[in-house]
Amino acid sequence: MKPTVLISRRWPAAVESLLAKQFDTTVNTSDKPLTAVQFRDALSEYDAILPTVTDSIDNRVFDGLTAETVRTRIIANYGVGFSHIDIQRAKALGICVTNTPDVLSECTADIAMMLILMVARRAGEGERELRANGWTGWRPTHMMGTRVSGKTLGIVGFGRIGRETAKRARGFNMNVVVHNRSAIDPVLLNTFNAVQCSSLDELAASADFISLHCPGGAENKHLIDARIIEQMKPDSYLINTARGEVIDEEALIEALQSKRIGGAGLDVFDNEPAINPAFKSLENAVLLPHLGSATNETRNAMGERVIGNLNAFFGQGEPPDRIG
Ligand code: DGY
Repeated sequence: MKPTVLISRRWPAAVESLLAKQFDTTVNTSDKPLTAVQFRDALSEYDAILPTVTDSIDNRVFDGLTAETVRTRIIANYGVGFSHIDIQRAKALGICVTNTPDVLSECTADIAMMLILMVARRAGEGERELRANGWTGWRPTHMMGTRVSGKTLGIVGFGRIGRETAKRARGFNMNVVVHNRSAIDPVLLNTFNAVQCSSLDELAASADFISLHCPGGAENKHLIDARIIEQMKPDSYLINTARGEVIDEEALIEALQSKRIGGAGLDVFDNEPAINPAFKSLENAVLLPHLGSATNETRNAMGERVIGNLNAFFGQGEPPDRIG
């Protein structure tokens, strides 16, 4: 008998059909997030559950379950970030958890670089002006932005996506400084021509652009708070393609409203998709709907990565991307 698999949202057609060939799949065709109760029920109905970033698999799902009542043996996340899954609770119930690293690093770094360019060169504002028929023609003082080349990019979190962002920044002739929880191998730093700062404060005070590439979750909640924003240079920019909770959004909104910093480029938010409405009235913020991994190639590759994990697991092997 094929293992039963629940897919929590629609996937690209090619990977949905690949999955259906190998497993007994059920797809949530409504493409709306399942509730905690639906996930709890699913844990006693399916051998595998494939959630994604919009699914909170936390206490509300796990409370009251025991290893005896749970049928699910693997939660194979469609995505690299996993702060929406309580890995410890899953582990305690004997459930393996996997993610999809590597395949989205380049695309997410592209979005980070795009946000840097868009916010510095006022691309969102320009497009809004033009579409609203507000453009009166070229003039020397029209919508002047900030040059990116030669500026310093501060990368917070030097994992795969941080390193891809560093590569792109070097292509734009930027200097790269890095903050990371652990010390980075000097050989690796040299490869990217990057310098590790001794603290986040030091990075905040020296960077013209700060780009966040650290994990979300409790450990990094409000890592960028009012105190860190206060250290940032007056014309500097904050870019977030990591997780919304890494920034204290109230503090950022206040800094953008008072023009304490130059601007922000955000692809992720606390409480997505219900973003804080104050962001929408800020001309110095570029806002994207969590597009980091959103290319055909990457979303298919993420699906293939999940399938690789399921095949290894149900074939009695070690899934390559086990995180818990
Ligand atoms: C991830 O993978 O964590 C992204 O945020 C969604 O692709």
